[in-house]
Amino acid sequence: MTDKTAVVTGGGSGLGRGLCMALARRGNSVVVADIEPEAAERTAEEAAALGVESAAFVCDVSDHDAVVALADYAWSRFGSVEILCNNAGVSLGGRLVDARPEDFDWVFGVNVKGMLNGSQVFGSRFASTDATSFIVNTASEHSIGVPHVGAGLYTASKHAVLGLTDVLRREMPHNVQVSLACPGIVSSRIHDATRNRPADLGGRGEPNRLAQAVLAMGMDPLEAGEHVIVGVEDGEYMIFTHSHSREYADERYREISRAFERQAPRVPGDERYKVANLVREARATAEP
Ligand SMILES: NC(=O)c1ccc[n+]([C@@H]2O[C@H](COP(=O)([O-])OP(=O)(O)OC[C@H]3O[C@@H](n4cnc5c(N)ncnc54)[C@H](O)[C@@H]3O)[C@@H](O)[C@H]2O)c1
Repeated sequence: MTDKTAVVTGGGSGLGRGLCMALARRGNSVVVADIEPEAAERTAEEAAALGVESAAFVCDVSDHDAVVALADYAWSRFGSVEILCNNAGVSLGGRLVDARPEDFDWVFGVNVKGMLNGSQVFGSRFASTDATSFIVNTASEHSIGVPHVGAGLYTASKHAVLGLTDVLRREMPHNVQVSLACPGIVSSRIHDATRNRPADLGGRGEPNRLAQAVLAMGMDPLEAGEHVIVGVEDGEYMIFTHSHSREYADERYREISRAFERQAPRVPGDERYKVANLVREARATAEP
């Protein structure tokens, strides 16, 4: 991956910054999109110091029109775009039973709708040409299991990112490679994510001090960003950065497997209710 143009949402901080640097080190131009203008500028300058073209663009990924404006800007400024890192995300602690409707709207608005906006706006443009291009959706180890309780909306939103991305990769033509980055803990400012929460969804809250202390011990974002881009270069769909995360997937798989064995073990003819088969049958009946 070199000599391409990349757009990285949430590029102003944390993992997004790490992705920008990994891409810039490979000689790619970088558009740093972020809701925080100063953070976007800082990363763009850091990328430029590596000798590539860069630009900062202010964008709220939860706003579809803003993502269209981002794409228009990137194409007009750089002529073409081949890489989208859909990375902007927020987190909110608290038990699910205590979550307010506006908490859901904010977390899902950024983490899921933002991911959909980027995937649609850039994905449709990528799919309209034969050029090789890349969509990298930042999910989490919270996409493959439940690493811990206390971040229910975040965990649910990251599971939604997994579902969305898994469908997207099957819908995209072969020239568009879709990857799902599933990092574990990365040192970042996500403990203070409400710094960017709109007033009508609750505004700024107290930073989560425990999360801050934990994040400070996380993987360096430059290392994590490099790891993700190596995975993309290797053509990987799921990209893992923290080997321990595997235990969440293993635990879930064991639970699913045992539940099937107890309640619905495989028997001959059980594909009778498999929807893909039923669709084929329904089509054959409807279109003789
Ligand atoms: N830090 C971790 O341990 C970790 C682990 C797994 C996944 N992730 C994911 O990595 C991504 C980046 O998070 P981070 O940890 O680097 O946090 P961060 O807060 O350091 O960076 C997130 C960036 O996104 C920007 N942003 C927030 N809302 C936005 C919006 N509506 N539109 C555009 N930009 C917006 C912020 O200004 C910030 O620059 C997120 O998707 C997060 O869920 C983080």
